[in-house]
Parts: sequence; structure tokens; C-alpha cells
Amino acid sequence: MLKVLVEAQNGAYEILLGPGLLKDLSPFIQKGRRHFIISDTNVYPLYGKVFGGFPSFVVKAGEKSKSHESLLKIYDELSKHNISREDVIVALGGGVVGDLAGYAAATFKRGVRFIQVPTTLLAQVDSSVGGKVGVNLKSGKNMVGSFYQPSLVLADTDTLQTLPGREFAAGMAEVIKYAFIADQNLYKKLLSKNTALAEIIRICCEIKAGYVQRDPFDKNVRMELNFGHTIGHAIETATHYKRYLHGEAVAIGMVLAARIGERGGVSEAGLEDAVRDILIQNGLPAAVDDAILKSAMDNLMQDKKAAGDIIHFILADTIGHALARDYKAQELRELVL
Ligand code: NAD
Ligand code: GLY
Repeated sequence: MLKVLVEAQNGAYEILLGPGLLKDLSPFIQKGRRHFIISDTNVYPLYGKVFGGFPSFVVKAGEKSKSHESLLKIYDELSKHNISREDVIVALGGGVVGDLAGYAAATFKRGVRFIQVPTTLLAQVDSSVGGKVGVNLKSGKNMVGSFYQPSLVLADTDTLQTLPGREFAAGMAEVIKYAFIADQNLYKKLLSKNTALAEIIRICCEIKAGYVQRDPFDKNVRMELNFGHTIGHAIETATHYKRYLHGEAVAIGMVLAARIGERGGVSEAGLEDAVRDILIQNGLPAAVDDAILKSAMDNLMQDKKAAGDIIHFILADTIGHALARDYKAQELRELVL
């Protein structure tokens, strides 16, 4: 079992990770506290039985469940089972379940203890770490939320064996992101394919923990985690969240961020090719139709005009080092197209 310590000023906790962790939960069950499991319709049938005997609430799998409707149902169930602040809410699933259950835990009775059991690669390397929890509104994703750290993250890498290949690849986009923003050695490990997955996940969690410790409320350096995300989000919006998984859109966004860096004279020559090659090796898209890209950049310009026109854009100047530069949306459009 591997271990990462997250020492954020708004909460310290361990991430325990490796294969077989869900085989014996007894070391992790907190005696004297009741545990309430929140999961989804894909994950609960696969792994729910290990929490047999605990009350549970299962949402329909998918982003639509990250809603106030689900949240109100969860509050009702927590009330019905008399869950108190001394008890524990367990999020068993991917980022959707983690964000939703985490927000329920942050708000029910002003805060119930909370354990993350992430079962997607994206959740194991990203969403279960760092305390961002919340739900979506019709007007946008993650519009309502909080920073609420879990008391433990339990990432059983065996659960990734049942994850659909496309979802696994989408998680790899975030792994590759960590390499480009913070760790050239991780990049080399990914290229050579000699390192065990659990160790790769540990490295990613260490990197994320470092950002969360330095900037728990996402006011400055933590924004480097948004490498590939600004244009990635614009592509998701332009394609109505239907064509690409989040990680796939981030993958394309990273190629375009590297292009902007190179054309803008910030990034070393060859960075765009390096980003593209490793994404393709990992089964990820690395390009987008011109029409979609134009529509994404137009949307970005519309949004940003409303917000004052300046975009705090994350670049990598070399493999393993990120930095931020301010651009007008129009400048980004000219550099990318
Ligand atoms: P997800 O939770 O929707 O999971 C993806 C799919 O895989 C779902 O259908 C799910 O049921 C299924 N699944 C999960 N684990 C499985 C397993 N082991 N075997 C088989 N199927 C499994 O999506 P995700 O990619 O994990 O997370 C995306 C969400 O995370 C988004 O809502 C995003 O906003 C959020 N997010 C949050 C943060 C954060 O810091 N809080 C960071 C990144 C993303
Ligand atoms: N997913 C980015 C963050 O946690 O800050």
C-alpha cells in the first residue's frame, strides 16, 4: 500500500492507494461511527457489497446526477438514518459521486466526516484530492460548491480493471497534464511504460497534494492545474458536452496550449509535438475540427468579454514546468488558429 499525506491548512488527511484495499475494510472503518455510502448505478453493483450492511443511496450514473435534485434526496436519506456529524459519509465512485457526496457531507448539519473511495483514474489522481466539492446548475458546471477536505482517500487500483477503456484514457489526460506542468521524470516514466500504475497514481497525488497545500482555496498557483482546461472547457461547451469526455477535451486543450506557448515565444520548440505524441500513444484525441475550434474560441471571446476580457492562461515553457500569462481572448484566438 502506498501513502500520500495531504497537509492543507483547511484539513490534513492520508491518501492510501494500491491494489486490494477494498478486500478488507476493517482497518479503515471508524469504530463507533455509522457509515453512509453514496454511489452510482454502475459502481454500486460492482463494489457496493464490500460495504454490505451500511445504509446507502445510489444515484443514476452520469454528470446529470451532480444536481440539487440528487442532493435533496441525499439529505432526506441522511435524515431518515439519523446521520450525525460524528458519522461518516463514504463516496464510492468517480468524480461525479465524489463531488456530490462531498458537497452533501460539507453541508449536511454543517459538516459530516467524509471518506473518498475513488473508482475512476480521474478521481484517483485528481477529483478525490483537494477538497473541491459541489454540484452543477443549468447555467454551468460546478457553479455551487465548497472546499471541504475528506478525512481519508482510499484508492483501490484494482477497481480500475472494470473501468471502460475510454474512461481510463480520459483519466490519463490528467496524468499527462501533471507531467507537463510539474514533473519531467513522470513524463519519462510515462514514455517508457515501465512504472506500475499505482506508483504513477502516487506521483500524481503527490503533485496535486503539493498544489493543494500551497494554495488550498485556488487563488494562485493551484490554477496551474488548469493546463489544457481553458480551451478544453470551451470545446466541451461548443460540442454541448456530448462529443468528448472531459479528459479528451483537456487533451486537445493541452495540445493547443502548447501551440499557443510555442507561437507566443514562451514554450520551447517541439513542445506541441511532445504533448500530441504522448496523448496519441495513450489513446487520446489530439486534434479537433476547425469548425469546432473556431466555435470554441468564439465562445471564449463572448464569455471573456462579459468577464473583462483577460484570461489567466496556463502554459508549460518546458516539459515539467508551468507558468501563467494574461491574454485577451482575441490574442489566444489569433495564436491558436
Ligand atoms: P464519473 O464519475 O461520471 O465516472 C465515469 C463513468 O465511469 C461513470 O459512468 C461511472 O459510473 C463509471 N465508473 C466509475 N468507476 C467505475 C469502475 N471502477 N468500473 C466501471 N465503471 C466505473 O466521471 P469522472 O471522470 O470520474 O469524474 C468527472 C467529474 O469529476 C465531473 O463532474 C468533474 O466536474 C469532476 N471533477 C472534479 C474535480 C475536483 O477537484 N473536485 C476535478 C476534476 C473533475
Ligand atoms: N481539479 C483542479 C483542482 O482541484 O484545483
